[in-house]
Amino acid sequence: MRSIVRLLRLASVGLAGAVLLCACGMPGAVKESRTPVRVVNLRVDSDENPVGIGTRTPRLSWQIQSDRRAVVQSAYQVVVARSDQPPAQRADRVWDSGKVVSDRSIELPYGGPSLRSGQRYFWQVRVWDERGIASSWSAAAYWEMGLLSTGDWRASWIAPPQPAAEAPPDDAAPLLRRTFRLKRGIRSARVYVTSHGLYELQINGRRVGGEVLTPGWTSYDRRLQYQTYDVTRMLVGGRNAIGAMLGDGWYIGPIGLQALAATNTTADPGKRLELLLQLHVTYLDGSEDTIVSDDAWKASTGPVLRSGIYAGETYDARRERTGWSTPGYDDHGWSAVEITSSSKDDLVASGPPITRHEELRPVRIFKTPAGDTVADLGQNMVGWVRLRVRGKAGTTVTLRHAEVLDHAGNFYTANLRKARQEVRYTLKGGGVETYEPHFAYQGFRYVAIAGYPGRLTAGDITGIVVHADLPTTGEFETSNALVNQLQHNILWGQKGNFVAVPSDCPQRDERLGWTGDAEVFSPTAAFNMDVDGFFTRWLADLAADQDPNGRVPWVVPDVLHRIADQPAGGAAGWSDAATIIPWNLYLAFADTHILQVQYGSMRRWVEYERARAGDDYIWDGDFQFGDWLDFFSTALHTSFGSTSPDLIATAYFAHSTDIVRRTALVLGRQEDAARYAALFENIKNAFNRKFVAADGRVGEGTQTAYVLALDFDLLPERLRKPAAELLAQNVRQTGHLTTGFLGTPRLLTVLSRYDHLAEAYMLLTRTEFPSWLYPVVQGATTIWERWDGIKPDGTFEDEGMNSFNHYAYGAVGEWMYEVMAGIRIDPDDPGYKHVLIEPQPGGGFSHAGASHQSPYGRVASGWTLRAGTMSLDIEIPPNTRATVTLPGAKLAAVRESGGPLAHAAGITAGREEDSSVVLEAGSGNYHFRYALGAH
Ligand code: BGC
Repeated sequence: MRSIVRLLRLASVGLAGAVLLCACGMPGAVKESRTPVRVVNLRVDSDENPVGIGTRTPRLSWQIQSDRRAVVQSAYQVVVARSDQPPAQRADRVWDSGKVVSDRSIELPYGGPSLRSGQRYFWQVRVWDERGIASSWSAAAYWEMGLLSTGDWRASWIAPPQPAAEAPPDDAAPLLRRTFRLKRGIRSARVYVTSHGLYELQINGRRVGGEVLTPGWTSYDRRLQYQTYDVTRMLVGGRNAIGAMLGDGWYIGPIGLQALAATNTTADPGKRLELLLQLHVTYLDGSEDTIVSDDAWKASTGPVLRSGIYAGETYDARRERTGWSTPGYDDHGWSAVEITSSSKDDLVASGPPITRHEELRPVRIFKTPAGDTVADLGQNMVGWVRLRVRGKAGTTVTLRHAEVLDHAGNFYTANLRKARQEVRYTLKGGGVETYEPHFAYQGFRYVAIAGYPGRLTAGDITGIVVHADLPTTGEFETSNALVNQLQHNILWGQKGNFVAVPSDCPQRDERLGWTGDAEVFSPTAAFNMDVDGFFTRWLADLAADQDPNGRVPWVVPDVLHRIADQPAGGAAGWSDAATIIPWNLYLAFADTHILQVQYGSMRRWVEYERARAGDDYIWDGDFQFGDWLDFFSTALHTSFGSTSPDLIATAYFAHSTDIVRRTALVLGRQEDAARYAALFENIKNAFNRKFVAADGRVGEGTQTAYVLALDFDLLPERLRKPAAELLAQNVRQTGHLTTGFLGTPRLLTVLSRYDHLAEAYMLLTRTEFPSWLYPVVQGATTIWERWDGIKPDGTFEDEGMNSFNHYAYGAVGEWMYEVMAGIRIDPDDPGYKHVLIEPQPGGGFSHAGASHQSPYGRVASGWTLRAGTMSLDIEIPPNTRATVTLPGAKLAAVRESGGPLAHAAGITAGREEDSSVVLEAGSGNYHFRYALGAH
């Protein structure tokens, strides 16, 4: 029980009072300044100056900067105009919100007249602070609309001609091109483009855009992304040329579980590579030109002889068509393209693109005992190698890619299953050649190089890391180097698996959008990167691929459809991604829009669960993955874990119901909220009757059974502590975790929530198998799929399922941010509008700290414990506030920036509660210091 012991007597409790106090010049006081706040970092749908957006009601966000504490926005004004003159100075505004009394500074829906396809809109904001002082107008920012309706597309789908039936098969990547004339005086030019298969676009001999693997991967039958590029500077008055190279990618496949039946793949011989492209040119005189994909285009084949997502790429530089996308190129031998009748109804504006990031150089190049020449990039990474080579025409260099070396130090690829991950480059000769694959990516740390002419040096091999272009938003660091490496591994697991979709793994013949993996990892992912747009796109695919009866596929895009005649969908903890991920996005980004758009899908999923559960509310008898790959699974020779699948399914049914209830409340759907509240009660009662004993034992007493029951609040109040005690006992007795994909993510959260912090820290810092740090000690640089991917005796787990880059167990990152560093979202005021700063030191750590770039700005919390003295530095961004808990503190003993608490600007209330001090703080940087337990 929490007891309020003593209230801090602050001279004044209101904000204004706190500010007045500061003016007295007390130690620690920040002088009141009349400086107005500044408005910065304007974003539209969470992007800076996006071009080609598809939302008809973009959501506007900004951040406030100030050197004062306790800054709150009291009003705002947004203006939007069509010209690039500062909108605030223009009479021809599209929208002027007027002065709106509100503290809302993120996710504000545009409220003006309908937005036009292809139009760029400029906008500015000013705000008033809590004293009523106005800021200056922000710098102008913009967004630009994409093509909003099918009718905007005048282009036709085009394809290279079908080879004659008797012609030898040619898998070479097609090249498509055309030339065109433009007038002088180009003001702006945009190209809108997509493909069936992947495309790389060139204009006048230069590559368009920095994106790779475009147009990305969506549920192609229902939603196909197009990209928008500003190509103004690439065009000239006079003759121009445009060209695209097409590759198979995810569209032609095969993509799926090749180990299983051939039906479980998207490989479809009837599919064709196609291009859809529209170039809009606007001249200074206001006139326009449009160049489209049509029958004026010509086709040939290029140097990419073969490519595949799993297979790799074969490239013959002798077959390059030099200058093929320039106007002067002689294309008279090229064939006419065919116009096809593919649909333009499913086109959607692109979400976050895939781009290049780090470049890694080998840390060593060596020969393995088996004689392979291998470069070690020092990091299990995802992307490809940029090869530099000089040699005779016709020489072929082969690059193979692997995550690990085996026990004997040899190149090990058995765990890739049927994915070859092999790149072959044939030289054209005559100088230094540089090559990067176009339509394939690999998961690897080691590269085996064969056929390299001359001496290979570290400069010849560069690892190009590619992933979705998402800003990194999180940092976490402690006094324990192994835990820091764990955070590094979590982040690299995220980079490598947030490419086109949130994937299980990036290397073997799978790389699919497994719903369960994404579900458990989503909160950690949202600390580390701004994943709002990335998940929003994927959730649209999830909803698109959801069955009419509400069943959610196991993987999204749903390339599995059926396995052994059973629909590949509807598994607890996996398909619950439909409810859990939108809710997590709402919490992290205050994104109510995602709840609105996904609400139908969320409800349908719960109704599906309800139908499967039937009248007794116990969801039993269906196929479940269960607590996939738990500690016992290896010994039991199964992947399914040892916690009852029916218990897990019923627990998730309850949890998803509860999330839909909460979502209904946020969306103001009171009737639905009541309906799902009643359903939640019914499921809980059934769960307790069926799975919970009088002493609080849950199911068979596995850690996962306790974790789910407690984390989802399924137990009656009186049984919660006893159940948590039983869980803690289990942990103490076994001395380690026994959980799999579903129990692991929230194990430490449940332990610390019920005051078993010591057990939580013990599990986190354990280095023997099974534990999070065991792989770290083995030299892992990413998170492993299995606790014993490499066994203590150095041998590998079953090669049929042994990825070394699977982020699921990295879900512990959430606990590290929330409990160790102490940055927690308040579900009642999400998006960090109200932050809970509540670090819980332990485990022998002398320091832990984290920061997160929230929608409002940087939130940070870092503590140091030295000789019984605790220091805590925190940062709370303007227009937010925090409840700060100082563990082991007494009010009188706490100093803030060197002065007593009562004089600290921005602190509006304080009290002692249990053995902590709890403070209410406005925005600002604070430095607390106190002797633990001192009076
Ligand atoms: C994947 C997992 C996935 C699982 C389903 C595996 O093959 O790699 O991460 O969630 O299947 O249980």
